[in-house]
Amino acid sequence: MEVIIRENEEVACGMVARIIAKAVRKKPDLVLGLATGRTMEKVYAELARMHRDEALDFSACRTFNLDEYIGLEQDDVNSYHHYMDEHLFRHINIKPGNTHLPDGTADDLKAEARGYEEKMCACGGIDLQLLGIGQSGHIGFNEPLSSLMSRMRDKVLAPETIAQNGPLFKTGAMPKRAMTMGVGTILESRRALVLVTGEGKADILAESVEGAVTSRVTASALQLHPHCVVVVDEAAASKLQ
Ligand code: F6R
Repeated sequence: MEVIIRENEEVACGMVARIIAKAVRKKPDLVLGLATGRTMEKVYAELARMHRDEALDFSACRTFNLDEYIGLEQDDVNSYHHYMDEHLFRHINIKPGNTHLPDGTADDLKAEARGYEEKMCACGGIDLQLLGIGQSGHIGFNEPLSSLMSRMRDKVLAPETIAQNGPLFKTGAMPKRAMTMGVGTILESRRALVLVTGEGKADILAESVEGAVTSRVTASALQLHPHCVVVVDEAAASKLQ
């Protein structure tokens, strides 16, 4: 695991966007694993700018998102389907059929989870997986005590996650469950690219990258990933030894 510290959020987000852009230019049909959340908004804005101003071409790129809330329709403003359209997909030339998010309204969530992993596999697996870290130490929605071997499944959200994301729900109550790739699924990606910014993440970042590898902090499992780069700003890095 390589940790790269940048002076502020803007520079850290710019670096992550450039790493993604370089990977897309090198392999136009890249299979990209995507995350949502506040941390990623500037990264997606920069990728959209690169598409507009620098002809960054996503036309052959395939994407698989990490997670989606259970029970939210795709057009619900709080859904991750909506987030991805708003922040990235509608600003770039990706083909809608090449973008994938789990369906949190599926009647049979187990079959949905299995089918999603099969689709990832049929595309050759994730080349580059983008990740944030939540206040509970989660990656995706792998809350504390998720097995480090876990696969895509539905998961009950931790109280810290409900406190973290609840304020984002302007309409309706935040679902208490989500579909998420498992820790085992994430560890199979060829490269992992983690972005963590802000003082509020300093403690959980230190636990994740310098603490024990434990299912109590599922982000710590990334220490086992053979090609993992963690880009952070100085505020998030403030508790590192
Ligand atoms: C979202 C996801 C989560 C977030 C994490 C950080 O798709 O997978 O693990 O990356 O909760 O969220 P923010 O960036 O809002 O602090």
